[in-house]
Amino acid sequence: MSETSVSGSGSGSGSSSGSSSGSVSDDNRGEASGGTTGATIELESLTKRYPGNPQPAVENVSMEIKAGETVIFVGPSGCGKSTTLKMINRLIEPSGGRIRINGEDVTDIDPVKLRRKVGYAIQSSGLFPHMTVAQNIALVPKMIGWSKARIRDRVEEMLDLVGLDAGEFHSRYPRQLSGGQQQRVGVARALAADPPVLLMDEPFGAVDPITRDHLQDELIRLQHELHKTIVFVTHDFDEAIKLGDRIAVLRERSHIAQFDTPEAILTNPADDFVSGFVGAGAALKRLNLTRVRDVGITDYPTVTVEDPLQDIFDRLRESGTNEILLLDRRGRPYKWLRRGDLMRARGSLARAGTLVHDTVTRDATLRDALEAVLTDNAGRVAVTGRRGTYEGVVDMETLMNSVHELLEADRLDALEHQHDLEETRATQTHTEQEGFGEVGGRA
Ligand SMILES: Nc1ncnc2c1ncn2[C@@H]1O[C@H](COP(=O)(O)OP(=O)(O)OP(=O)(O)O)[C@@H](O)[C@H]1O
Ligand SMILES: [Mg+2]
Repeated sequence: MSETSVSGSGSGSGSSSGSSSGSVSDDNRGEASGGTTGATIELESLTKRYPGNPQPAVENVSMEIKAGETVIFVGPSGCGKSTTLKMINRLIEPSGGRIRINGEDVTDIDPVKLRRKVGYAIQSSGLFPHMTVAQNIALVPKMIGWSKARIRDRVEEMLDLVGLDAGEFHSRYPRQLSGGQQQRVGVARALAADPPVLLMDEPFGAVDPITRDHLQDELIRLQHELHKTIVFVTHDFDEAIKLGDRIAVLRERSHIAQFDTPEAILTNPADDFVSGFVGAGAALKRLNLTRVRDVGITDYPTVTVEDPLQDIFDRLRESGTNEILLLDRRGRPYKWLRRGDLMRARGSLARAGTLVHDTVTRDATLRDALEAVLTDNAGRVAVTGRRGTYEGVVDMETLMNSVHELLEADRLDALEHQHDLEETRATQTHTEQEGFGEVGGRA
């Protein structure tokens, strides 16, 4: 999820009005031009006081978020995450400070205009129960005056994007969907008007861990395609590590305890509050940051169920390993076969060997891979590509070596960072002693 500037590509065929500034501030472009990607967000001394509360809920928050970046807010309950997020699209009006999107001050513009720049998805999807899936997704496009035909196409496109069959889900009501499906519709709705900015407030909080995992993977895939600027709130530090380009760890009143990359926060937490939040097992969490495609996938001897038995016997004998991987007709991992297995099963492939329990894709994290290796007793896990076809394996040794290397590299980075800081400090002290850089020198 790297930074990208506003550019035209992909979805939604807008009536291009020839405005090529790339700014999102042009609200008169008719139907917003398609394929807008992320915009920068700047918060400057943003403050919120709720009436009757002596303490502000959010106090003086300043941060800059790059275009195309995914930034995660984590922090304890009540620290002001939702309030900060909702001020970005002015669902909550700030009591002080400024908000700029792509350089444009949006603190005082019409909130309805803001909604087309900023999509919003929340926990438990927030869908309107009396509207169908299609009507929910069409909400913002309709509000900003898209034509019926364009809305219809867009709804279909969005359902496709989040992996729901348009024919099946178009006319259902939210209560006729599972939690995970509702969540997908929520994301589709937030993306419908193709806003450069997407705000998500614990969007996956209400689903089971497995569905959550899927939805997270999907968000990563979407973001690879769309390059929106995403601000995402969660309680779950593991979720933050998995999704974030940078993480803002917030303490009370949304004061920023640390705002940095997941690697930096894991290996170099700013203070005890942050370490407390990172929690135990930083080394294991590090596994969430690396994907199978980043480590060595190795070849492994395979045969298929369509091979003649004699070939399978030969292959078993030839291969240096005492096990081979049996693929099904479509080339998908099916069983681990050992030498004795075929004999004992009297040459029946249906009876021989151990079923493959678990496979991973190249996008899986090393943590998923480790999990799979540990639960399958083969000591390795098969990696699959499109339609589940076999591509190679990752074994325990590769995993251990990678983790070792990662941690070592992190340690060196942290040392270097430390060194840089000390150097900067030394230079500062030096400059001050020389009598330069004193602020008071105005008189
Ligand atoms: N409408 C409101 N009126 C008064 N106080 C409010 C209002 N909404 C939130 N607060 C207070 O502002 C503070 C921040 O609330 P906020 O919802 O932003 O927290 P949060 O970090 O999102 O918490 P959680 O993780 O529990 O969702 C809390 O102390 C909360 O009680
Ligand atoms: Mg909240």
